[in-house]
Amino acid sequence: MNSTGQSPVQGNHWLTGNARQMWNRPHLFPAELAWQNGGLARFRMLHKYLYAVTSAEYARQILVTNHDRYERSFQYKTGRIVIGDGLLSTDGPEWLKRRREMLPAFKAHTMRQLVEAAGAATEDAMRRWQTIDEETGSVPIVAEIQRLALIIIGKTLLSTEIDDGHAADFGHAVRETLYLVRQRNTSLIRLPMWLPSSANDRIHKTRQVLDEFLVPHIENRRMQPDKDVKSDILDLLAHSRDKESGSKLDDQALLDETKTLFVSGFETTATALSWTLYLLSRHPEIAARWHRECAQVLKGRLPTSDDLELLTFTKQIIQEALRLYPPVYNMARECVTDDTLGSVRIRKGSVLLISIYGIHHAEAYWPQPEKFDPDRFAPERSLPANAYYPFALGKHVCIGAQFAMTEMITILGIIGSRLRICAADPQPVGIRAQITLAPDQEILLRMRAL
Ligand code: HEM
Repeated sequence: MNSTGQSPVQGNHWLTGNARQMWNRPHLFPAELAWQNGGLARFRMLHKYLYAVTSAEYARQILVTNHDRYERSFQYKTGRIVIGDGLLSTDGPEWLKRRREMLPAFKAHTMRQLVEAAGAATEDAMRRWQTIDEETGSVPIVAEIQRLALIIIGKTLLSTEIDDGHAADFGHAVRETLYLVRQRNTSLIRLPMWLPSSANDRIHKTRQVLDEFLVPHIENRRMQPDKDVKSDILDLLAHSRDKESGSKLDDQALLDETKTLFVSGFETTATALSWTLYLLSRHPEIAARWHRECAQVLKGRLPTSDDLELLTFTKQIIQEALRLYPPVYNMARECVTDDTLGSVRIRKGSVLLISIYGIHHAEAYWPQPEKFDPDRFAPERSLPANAYYPFALGKHVCIGAQFAMTEMITILGIIGSRLRICAADPQPVGIRAQITLAPDQEILLRMRAL
């Protein structure tokens, strides 16, 4: 036991500390360490000490009860290099003002448009999948769901059709962003951005791809007459005003926020849906209940917003997939005023890594945590307190949570009413944790019309 009352940390290198373990297993290393040490454990990465947290009680204290003692850590600020000063890379009063300006874009009107856009895009995608299946014997669902999620976000955010060329470039740029930000956060030496290096060049190129795609959309909106307002998310943001200060988002802010929504919304939702389909393809008895519900509620037609509330088991399946595979598996916070977690004094400047993966997989909260059991979320069952938050908790709770759930229930409802899916390859698929908790290989599915 050391001074924080924890067992010595395995594999601690004299220079890099546990940086290698964090790079290789960023979802499991902090989770296992904290499980072994009562929900809170300290470790070192390079010159920085971090705390891993898997106690639901401590996580609540950091994110809710004592949230004013914590801020987003430097890891989020690195994201500014690509996505600018958007909602995901800021904190404090600057963030609060932005959050108030952004909220009106996520109201009921957007959700209705989303259901319509997701319905049409999913019908198209399913036709494509059946052709791919007939021609090649399986459907690469991770790539296909990413393409679908991009088309849907392009439609709801910008009223634009993202073609295959753009989808490939843009999807690649978003993944590069997430990868490069993580690489920069864990590297020994962080070169200033003006210095030429291959990593810096890649960061600049990624930013350029995103900007070149989005800037013309923003310029067009600024020039369009009021009668042509499309009331997609970009229009709602362009016309939104902060109720307190009356301020509007300027062009740079609009660009940063649209980039933020693309980067934070597309990969997370696509990953969650891919895992959900993976789980369904391996649990035929749960898939049978899913098909029954979708057939009963939708009767072969596309869903409306009202139908989504009736797809209760479909929603439970997604909730359980988000528990097992939370796309955002760690959240980092920096302590800005000393605090105490249990008996451990947390000094100003400490970085805390709240392991969502660790909390979602802790036996103390979830009996048989590795079992896929959507009935955990049945309306009549109560959930363990504060032990489930794929969309975070407290003031930074995901602004797109309802958007993501609406999109996923719509897509899954349509697939469940039209297609039977099964695994083309029985081998289990592992996890490749980068910024989201992605599958480590393509998930190949077979699809048959019901
Ligand atoms: C399954 C899908 C999603 C998951 C699991 C997810 C998860 C999360 C989590 C855990 C956070 C908190 C991050 C932190 O503070 O450390 C977050 C924040 C955020 N998410 Fe999501 N998200 C999803 C989908 C979306 C979508 C679809 C959008 C937008 C269209 C979106 C936009 C954002 C934004 C802008 C923030 C920052 C909010 C703030 O700090 O005020 N997310 N998300």
